[in-house]
Amino acid sequence: MTEMTPPYIPYLDLKPLNDRFAQEDLLSFKEIHASGRFIGGEYVDRFEKEFSVYCGTSHCIGTGNGLDALTIILKAEVALGNLPQNASILVPAHTYIATFLSVIHAGMRPVPVDVEELTLTANVLRKVTLEYDAIIVVDIYGKLVDDEVYAFAKDNSLPIYCDTAQSHGATNKLGERSGNLARASAFSFYPTKNLGGIGDAGAITTNDFELANMCRKVANYGRESRFVNNIIGVNSRLDPLQAAFLSNRLPMLDADNTRRIEIATYYYQHINNVKVKLLPSDFLNNCVSHVFPVYVANRKVFMDYLDHIGIGTSVHYEIPPHQQAAFKELNHLSFPVTEELHRTEVSLPCHPLLSKEDVEFIVKAVNAY
Ligand SMILES: Cc1ncc(COP(=O)(O)O)c(C=O)c1O
Repeated sequence: MTEMTPPYIPYLDLKPLNDRFAQEDLLSFKEIHASGRFIGGEYVDRFEKEFSVYCGTSHCIGTGNGLDALTIILKAEVALGNLPQNASILVPAHTYIATFLSVIHAGMRPVPVDVEELTLTANVLRKVTLEYDAIIVVDIYGKLVDDEVYAFAKDNSLPIYCDTAQSHGATNKLGERSGNLARASAFSFYPTKNLGGIGDAGAITTNDFELANMCRKVANYGRESRFVNNIIGVNSRLDPLQAAFLSNRLPMLDADNTRRIEIATYYYQHINNVKVKLLPSDFLNNCVSHVFPVYVANRKVFMDYLDHIGIGTSVHYEIPPHQQAAFKELNHLSFPVTEELHRTEVSLPCHPLLSKEDVEFIVKAVNAY
């Protein structure tokens, strides 16, 4: 008798995740089609309201994507006179390239600094001797940046912005949500995110009325009124279809995050292979496990092994931004922690539709490596 092979477990399969909302999405599509209003309008207003309530902020401004959301925040701060045109912005070396690109697109200079383990911490910030005007922190893999980092920025009167592209719904120990911790935060709703659309979408959250208005203006051609444009803006609007799709998904976000956290916790409790390193377990504090990273010396062998057994994996990320050919002027820099993390990281499946059996199977396979 042949043993039953379990079906392949992909790293992430967006189809079943989105099938859960197919009926509602079709209805939204029909409604928008029938309304004849295809830019802005009630679906965008509704999602912006819902998401600001969810995050606990006074304002939410929809954008075309997460990169634009970050860039628009920086441009709006310049327009308000809160940052110099050519500001130097401290960024963690360990992030997705979009964080760096937003600074460059805003006409500013990224000042990357190495991380401690994974995130930019107050310790790292205390040691930085370079000059900078503001900080962008990143809730990488869904883990909120430490409260101490915000305290450091406050104590030093430094504006701090958060790249919340990976941390929708994460809460700190006071129960405050991602998006409500920095002066302004930038979300991506790229389909793979914990809250993802079925196309590109993004949003800015802030509690600052003036900044919110300026972000809205920058995002809409720098438009003061219909025929008057008094600053250089961009066109980056949240599409009504994506807004409606996101409204359909938002009520599920907390339950999805809970399941991600359960899976991540199970991994921490049961993975016990010395060849597969995990981050310290406090990684799971204030974290919605957007990505579950493990660190393996020869990752290609490990990934091929899992693939052969029937488990898909991913890498976040291979080449850190400062080593990308696009940033020649940064290529001479060296950030050993970031580089080591990039060399060895493998992301295990960690999404809400993994079954108990899937997760047990993954752990067994990882431990048998
Ligand atoms: C950390 C981080 N920042 C920014 C972005 C940019 O988001 P988007 O792809 O929506 O522009 C992403 C998304 O991939 C991200 O992971």
